[in-house]
Amino acid sequence: MVKSKCCKLVFWMALVVLLASKVEARKRLKVGIHKNPQSSHQNVEHELKSLSVKHNVKSTKVLSATEAPLKSKTQDAGSSAASLSNYYNTAYSVAVEIGNPPQKFTLLIDTGSSNLWVPSIKCPATDRTCANHNKYNSAASSTFVANNTNFNIDYGSNSGGSVALSGFLSQDTVTIAGLPIKNQVFAEITEEPENPFLNAPYDGLLGLAYSEISIGGVTPPFYNLIQQGLIKKPVFSIYLNRNGTSAITGGELILGGIDSGLFRGCLTYVPVSTQGYWQFTMGSADINGTNFCNKCEAILDVGTSLMVIPQNALTKVNQILEVLNPKETNGVFLVDCAKIPNFPDIIFNIGRKDFPLKSSDYVLRYGNTCVSSFTSLEGLDFIILGEPFMGAYYTVYDLGYNMLGLAPALH
Ligand SMILES: *[C@@H]1O[C@H](CO)[C@@H](O)[C@H](O)[C@H]1NC(C)=O
Ligand SMILES: *[C@@H]1O[C@H](CO)[C@@H](O)[C@H](O)[C@H]1NC(C)=O
Ligand SMILES: *[C@@H]1O[C@H](CO)[C@@H](O)[C@H](O)[C@H]1NC(C)=O
Repeated sequence: MVKSKCCKLVFWMALVVLLASKVEARKRLKVGIHKNPQSSHQNVEHELKSLSVKHNVKSTKVLSATEAPLKSKTQDAGSSAASLSNYYNTAYSVAVEIGNPPQKFTLLIDTGSSNLWVPSIKCPATDRTCANHNKYNSAASSTFVANNTNFNIDYGSNSGGSVALSGFLSQDTVTIAGLPIKNQVFAEITEEPENPFLNAPYDGLLGLAYSEISIGGVTPPFYNLIQQGLIKKPVFSIYLNRNGTSAITGGELILGGIDSGLFRGCLTYVPVSTQGYWQFTMGSADINGTNFCNKCEAILDVGTSLMVIPQNALTKVNQILEVLNPKETNGVFLVDCAKIPNFPDIIFNIGRKDFPLKSSDYVLRYGNTCVSSFTSLEGLDFIILGEPFMGAYYTVYDLGYNMLGLAPALH
C-alpha cells in the first residue's frame, strides 16, 4: 500500500471524519469515503478520545513532556531519551524545540508516517485549530531557511481528492531529546481542520517511519539524526506506560539505541518485510485456539490507539469477549468490566516466539466503561499492532539492519 504514489498518506491522519450522529456523548464517526481505506483506523482513535474525555473529568489541555533528556545506567552509550506524555492511553507525545531561540512544540509520535509538521504563525486568524496550539514563527528564528514548497496531506475521497491539511515546507534546527538536528525540513501548516485537531493534546506530528512514505521526499528527522552523527546507532526504541494520563512518565522514546532496563529478557528480532511502515511478517495469531493469521503481514504503529485485525477474526474475538454492542458500526466495542479476568490471552507469534497479550493489556478501562482494543477496517490487508501491544512489549526499530526487536516491557 505504500508502493503507489497515491497512497503516500499519513496513516494516523486519515481521519476523514464525518460526524454522522451522536451516540450519547460519543461521536459516531463514519468511515468509508476515502480513497485509501487503510488509513481510516484513525477514526477509531478519535472515537476513543472522545470516549476517554467523557469518562475522565480532568481537563484536556495540552500536556507537555519534559524536554530534558533522561539519563539511565542501562541505556546504550551514544543514545538519548525523551520522555513521552500519555494522553488517556490513546496518544503519546514528545516535546520538541524548533529554531533559535527555541520555540516549543508537543508532537504526537507516529511510526506509521514519516513527516514532521507543526501549525504555522501564518495560519489565518480565523483558524481555531491553529489558535488552540503552538505555532511556528519563522521570522523569530535566526536559523530558519525558507523552502516554500507546497505541502498537502490529501485525505482523499471517492469524488476526487480533497485536501485536509496543507501548508508549505520550511527548514530549521529541530531539537529532540536534547539533540539539535540542523537543516531539518518540516511542514508549516496553514490549513488545519477542526476535526479531529481542534482540541488535540499535541500541536503537530513526528513521523518515525521509513523515508519511502515521506510526503514531498523530505528526509525524516530520524535519518538526519543518523546522518549528522547525533546518535551512535541507527536505532530507536519505544517504551509506553499504560497507567493513565501522565505528562512526564508516559513512556520513553530512545534515539540511538535501547535501554535494557525497560524490558525483560532478550529481544526477539524479525526482519522488516516492506520498508514504508515498520512492517513484518507475523508467524501466526490466535485466540482461544482459533487462528487468524498464518504468515500474515503486520505493522507496529505507535500512532494507532487500537489493535486492528481482520473482520472474521474480530467477529470471533467479539464473541469470546461477549461484547455488549456487537452491532456497533463505529468499530468501538464495549465489554463487561467484571469479565476482564476471564478473557483468554491473544497470542501473536513473531520471530518464532509467542507474544501473548493479556486481557488487562487489551481491554482499555475508562472509569466503569471498558473498551475492547480490537477493531477491524475494511480493505486493510495487514494487522496493526497498536499501542495496547506496545504497552506490553518494548519495541526496537533498527534502520541499519532493517529489523524490529521486541521484548516484554518492565512496568
Ligand atoms: C525543499 O525541500 C525539499 C525536500 O527536502 C527539497 O527536495 C527541495 O529541493 C527544497 N526546495 C528548496 C527551494 O529549498
Ligand atoms: C506509571 O508508572 C511509572 C513507572 O512504574 C510510575 O513512575 C508513574 O508514577 C506511574 N504513573 C501513574 C500516573 O500512575
Ligand atoms: C475456548 O476454548 C475452550 C476449549 O476449546 C472452549 O471450551 C471454550 O468454550 C472457548 N471459549 C470461548 C469463549 O469461545
